[in-house]
Amino acid sequence: MTPSQDAAEASNLGESLIGESLKGQRLAILGAGKMGASLLQGLLRVGAVETSQVIVTAAHAKRLDELKRDLGVEGTLDNRAAVETADVVLLCVKPQMAEAVLEEIGAMLRPQQLLISILASISTRHLEARVADGVPVVRSMPNTPSLIGAGMSALCAGTAAHEEHLALTERMFAPLGRTTRIDERHFDAVTALSASGPAFIYVMLEAMADGGVKVGLPRRTAIELAAQAALGASRMVLETGRHPALLKDEVTTPAGCTVDGILQLEEGGVRVALIKTIVEATARARELVDDE
Ligand SMILES: NC(=O)c1ccc[n+]([C@@H]2O[C@H](COP(=O)([O-])OP(=O)(O)OC[C@H]3O[C@@H](n4cnc5c(N)ncnc54)[C@H](OP(=O)(O)O)[C@@H]3O)[C@@H](O)[C@H]2O)c1
Repeated sequence: MTPSQDAAEASNLGESLIGESLKGQRLAILGAGKMGASLLQGLLRVGAVETSQVIVTAAHAKRLDELKRDLGVEGTLDNRAAVETADVVLLCVKPQMAEAVLEEIGAMLRPQQLLISILASISTRHLEARVADGVPVVRSMPNTPSLIGAGMSALCAGTAAHEEHLALTERMFAPLGRTTRIDERHFDAVTALSASGPAFIYVMLEAMADGGVKVGLPRRTAIELAAQAALGASRMVLETGRHPALLKDEVTTPAGCTVDGILQLEEGGVRVALIKTIVEATARARELVDDE
């Protein structure tokens, strides 16, 4: 097949993928660990894929047995076998494993397939240099709340990926929560803010619940109150579009108890701590692998 025939076929595939949804497409999830399985579970939950369309890989047979038992999906330890029959390949291994896996599958990928990577730190340029010419590469940075449809996924495309590939990826991640297209130069920041972000929020929820326990609330009630307050506050920001500072002002009555609490937060340096949290996590995302 000539390169132009290849490109035409790839483009036709893209159009059909946009029109039809993931149904009928074969999805290979390479490295179905915490994140790969969360995404799969989210997709199965909303019926975006069926188990018969999916094949997963892992490093250990024990993991594949778990996935078969819990999610009913077939698995293999052979990444190449999984890629061979796939339309969409979702790369979910740790960034440190990427080199080895790309060495296995890079040359066999075809322009008719789509490679989606959720790996922190590893750029589309890095991925494109390790796959066959013309293979479309899309990068997505999701987070674990994707499991329950409350995820956040940022997306960007490599040079061989076109609108149809981004649209397909968007359609794939949309049922898992929100999606946003963002310039790749911001991906380390996205990794810190929305991919690591839930962990930072869990620490805050745990600490707020500890406060509730300290003033006499049962632990379960304290966690529920803290989590629902965080959920409500987040929804207020997203659904009203109002700035968090204005929403905070509405809770803070003059000489009330909220302002005393805010004084403690400020004395504790919470703002500085959170800003530094994101700055440090972004810097770490940048250095996870040597991106050559
Ligand atoms: N965790 C998050 O919240 C999050 C959010 C956004 C993006 N990510 C990205 O998601 C990726 C995975 O993170 P994770 O937290 O899900 O890690 P994880 O739970 O350790 O999952 C990695 C999986 O890769 C498998 N694996 C290792 N070597 C392999 C190989 N050669 N071939 C096939 N599979 C192999 C492991 O198999 P075994 O289980 O058999 O060892 C494991 O199941 C990372 O690149 C990370 O940057 C994670």
